[in-house]
Amino acid sequence: MSTDEIRKRYLEFFKKNGHIEITPSPLVIDSDPTTLFTSAGMQQLVPFLKGEKHKDGKRLVNIQPSIRMQDLDEVADNRHFSFFEMLGNWSLGDYFKKEQLSWVWEFFTQELGLNPEKLHVSVYAGNDEVPKDTESFEIWKKIGVSESHIHFYDAQKNWWSRAGEPSKMPTGEIGGPDSEIFYEFKSVSHDPRFGKFCHPNCDCGKFLEIGNSVFMQYQKMEDGKLMELPQKNVDFGGGLERIAAAVLDSPDVFHIDIFSGVIKKIEKETGIEYNSDSGKDKSFRIIADHLRASVNLLSEGVIPGNKLHGYALRRLIRRSMFHFHLLGSGISGGAISHIAEEYRRFYPNVNKNWQFIEDNLNAEATRFEAALKRGLARLTKAVSGGDEIDGEFAFDLYQTEGFPLELTMEILSQNGMVFSLVERNAFESEFEKHRQSSRSASVGMFKGGLAEASVATTKLHTATHLLHAALRQILGDHIGQKGSHITSERLRFDFSHSQKLADEEIKGVENLINLKIKEDLPVSFKVMSLPNAIKEGAMHFFAEKYGDEVKVYTIGNSGEVWFSKEVCGGPHVTHTGEIGGVKIIKQEKIGSGILRVYAALK
Ligand code: SER
Repeated sequence: MSTDEIRKRYLEFFKKNGHIEITPSPLVIDSDPTTLFTSAGMQQLVPFLKGEKHKDGKRLVNIQPSIRMQDLDEVADNRHFSFFEMLGNWSLGDYFKKEQLSWVWEFFTQELGLNPEKLHVSVYAGNDEVPKDTESFEIWKKIGVSESHIHFYDAQKNWWSRAGEPSKMPTGEIGGPDSEIFYEFKSVSHDPRFGKFCHPNCDCGKFLEIGNSVFMQYQKMEDGKLMELPQKNVDFGGGLERIAAAVLDSPDVFHIDIFSGVIKKIEKETGIEYNSDSGKDKSFRIIADHLRASVNLLSEGVIPGNKLHGYALRRLIRRSMFHFHLLGSGISGGAISHIAEEYRRFYPNVNKNWQFIEDNLNAEATRFEAALKRGLARLTKAVSGGDEIDGEFAFDLYQTEGFPLELTMEILSQNGMVFSLVERNAFESEFEKHRQSSRSASVGMFKGGLAEASVATTKLHTATHLLHAALRQILGDHIGQKGSHITSERLRFDFSHSQKLADEEIKGVENLINLKIKEDLPVSFKVMSLPNAIKEGAMHFFAEKYGDEVKVYTIGNSGEVWFSKEVCGGPHVTHTGEIGGVKIIKQEKIGSGILRVYAALK
């Protein structure tokens, strides 16, 4: 069964059971300074799990593309990813354990046809604060799961919150006991290290977790105790790729349709076979996984860089290229793009923004090739000179050559050297120092940007929103604001785009803005919570300065149809006609993948 078919069946099944499909969040959530990427479907639902009313009701379903950078070191096994799609369903204080467990079981066994004999489930074993989940145990038995396939685990395994078990949850965080479903690969023998003690939560690969029903019921209070939430929720998440592997009965998730073409292309480019005795499977998986994450991030307009999202993307791209290099094929942007292009078939947004993605992959390959040469020379010299490679050295290599830490570590380990945890921490603390100073610089810059509120700057401010919307309409959704600065003379707008605009494109953008000015569209704002703003499709940036409530400015509001919607403090004109007219006066490329345009009032 194709992954596409699984997606369809999942959504249909839960819709049939009264769920409304909600739009997944983008991968990059500027609104949440505590996390770089969307890593679970529940993330956008936190306020609603805590009791706020959701406009689509109490039963929700979606498929959420997610990124978990913390699993990066595990990707080389056969079942972990940096990017994956999560099938999710939620009860916001509506149904609870009985319905949830029966539905998941029905979905896996009836809709997907998984053999019930190969399924195992786990249940929370309880502690002083939260009792053993005998209710789920009884439900599973009633459903027909044999007792030998129901396993009890403590909070380390059977409790879910974004931070982990209760003792790790920060104040305010929500979580609860959960019940997981595992698929058993009969073809895989028990890992001899675990022998007959192998069990669903053992790491040997015989069992694969394919779904997790979290009974989201608790909130951590200031005194460290757990308090019951006003409502009992369900938060289910299951990895599409793993579910597809179970349907295929393949313990190696990289055999599913999304990856098979990519693996073939890597084989062709390198002349090495996957699953042969070459010992190179790890590199195949890293390339396939990291490139998939990279093209999806690029499709949202993230570009490789040295900070935050850009740095995560750079690590992914460079790690995949380094492993391509390890397969003996050098570093070639062309080959990498050719492999990554395979993902166009599976991700419409990647397909739509392919030109931008390809340009950035190629540009990063060129930069990386040069960095690798310089970095390798320095590292080799240091290693052969018997120098100690410490955290500071690794950070300097990263800062001056853009040489990611993972590569330093991989190269050291190839030379039989170990980069200790202490050194790794030293690297991280240097990195953090660097990050803090660049972050305060950018916040300061933003504050200065809109301080002056004369009539001209107000007009230019609204013109900036029109420009942003026009660029997206004409050039594509990868356009994202990277910076903005307004004086009484002109506006300046930085955005993600890899090449300069052609004359016709500039004309097109300018004409569209002036058309919207001529239409004299109303400009209005509403105050709402940030998650609601995101739900309404508002664009949002510089999240760290937002409070609980944000202002959402809409241009051209007639029901569902609008030209621009952005989270913004204002001020703005009340009708676009007041702007008079706008002219783009200049464009320049600043840094890689960022274009800057200047515009003035006519
Ligand atoms: N939030 C849970 C998870 O990420 C279930 O959706 O596993």
